[in-house]
Amino acid sequence: MDRIRIVGGRHLNGTIPISGAKNATLPLMIAGLLTDQTVILDNVPRLADVGLLQRILGNHGVDIMVGGKRPGDTEYKGQTLHISAANIVDTTAPYELVSKMRASFWVIAPLVARMGQAKVSMPGGCAIGTRPVDLLLMVLERLGAAIDIDGGYVIARAPRGLKGGEIVFPKVTVGGTHTALMAAALADGTTVIENAAREPEIVDVADCLNKMGAKISGAGTSRILVKGVAKLGGARHSVLPDRIETGTYAMAVAMTGGDVTLEGARPELLQAALDVLTRAGADVAATNTGIRIARNGAGIAPVEVVTDPFPGFPTDLQAQLMALMTRAKGTSRITETIFENRFMHVQELVRLGAHIHLDGETATIEGVDKLKGAPVMATDLRASVSLVIAALAAEGETMVNRVYHLDRGFERLEDKLVACGAEIARISG
Ligand code: UD1
Repeated sequence: MDRIRIVGGRHLNGTIPISGAKNATLPLMIAGLLTDQTVILDNVPRLADVGLLQRILGNHGVDIMVGGKRPGDTEYKGQTLHISAANIVDTTAPYELVSKMRASFWVIAPLVARMGQAKVSMPGGCAIGTRPVDLLLMVLERLGAAIDIDGGYVIARAPRGLKGGEIVFPKVTVGGTHTALMAAALADGTTVIENAAREPEIVDVADCLNKMGAKISGAGTSRILVKGVAKLGGARHSVLPDRIETGTYAMAVAMTGGDVTLEGARPELLQAALDVLTRAGADVAATNTGIRIARNGAGIAPVEVVTDPFPGFPTDLQAQLMALMTRAKGTSRITETIFENRFMHVQELVRLGAHIHLDGETATIEGVDKLKGAPVMATDLRASVSLVIAALAAEGETMVNRVYHLDRGFERLEDKLVACGAEIARISG
């Protein structure tokens, strides 16, 4: 299993290109199941999760052609996927595949919407608390599907197609909202989605679905209206930049000090996180090409932050912020409201010398003068990158084990950091 070796203490200076968003790419690929025509996605990041979803879709009979770097291209621009679900040969998504990535459960919506049935294994994915699918199943039931659970599989049936309906989410769910959009797009009649997630990735998926011929309005607000259509067609869509990757590198620069331009990043996608970074003492500026983040001289100021659905501070940046706050001048408090149990990074940060006290859903972090390198273990995607951030500012060597979590969500992490002066390398095997 690969490891990543980091020697801390270097400032970061330069430019980091921001990749396409993982959390938009996955539902966009899944949306390809809704049509027998070709959906072309540009700016797709090269990530393990994207490769895994290719296999899962392939199992349903989806043909995916990957274009990539062309001769003469100077920069890595992300890949282009041509997704063709002309023939769906199998409506079952097996345990062996779905258990590796939670988002793959979302195939259930387009499969039942287009094929009238789906059998999908209950999901796995990051070990961050119990992550039920009850609200996703509620969506399908509201739109007329019959749901059975048998042997770890969810079987959804709507032989005469789905029907529009009213969906009121009792809590904001990104996956639930994606499910509702995809199911309602091909349902007969109009669907109203109340308390919908407002994440930018929802807007990106709705934009692509509309290019495919869907009639969706209100994406990005908490009330979305979907007028079902009988058929969707092909489209070409470029994935929006990854706001979590953006925020992660911004935290890394705030941690180490230095001056980095995050190329292609869009500030409006993570304003809450940028505001927190400003309060923490970083200089954040929008530029023509992206976001410039710098911290020179001034120390890191402590902050109080509560995670929330968009436009609040994202849970997917909570671990990274905690890493940053381990070096703050004073005491910070971070409260996690989205996922219980999303604190697996705490004990590993403590191994690097951090002072963190956990009380229920709130972590109190007393800033320390220095962290010291140590072997640590990555336990989930965002937790593992928080260890990288801490290691970049720790004295001596840190070895991050089990880096496959990083590869699920961060494209060429070491290359991007090395280009800005970090001492970081992957050790194979
Ligand atoms: C997505 C993101 C993930 C992010 C999360 C919250 C992708 C691929 N993943 O995950 O990176 O951390 O949004 O921003 O986009 N819930 C239920 N029942 C359900 C579904 C969810 O109770 O049926 C709960 C969850 O346990 C959680 C909350 O709702 O407490 C929000 O989860 P949700 O927004 O659905 O997360 P995901 O879509 O899985």
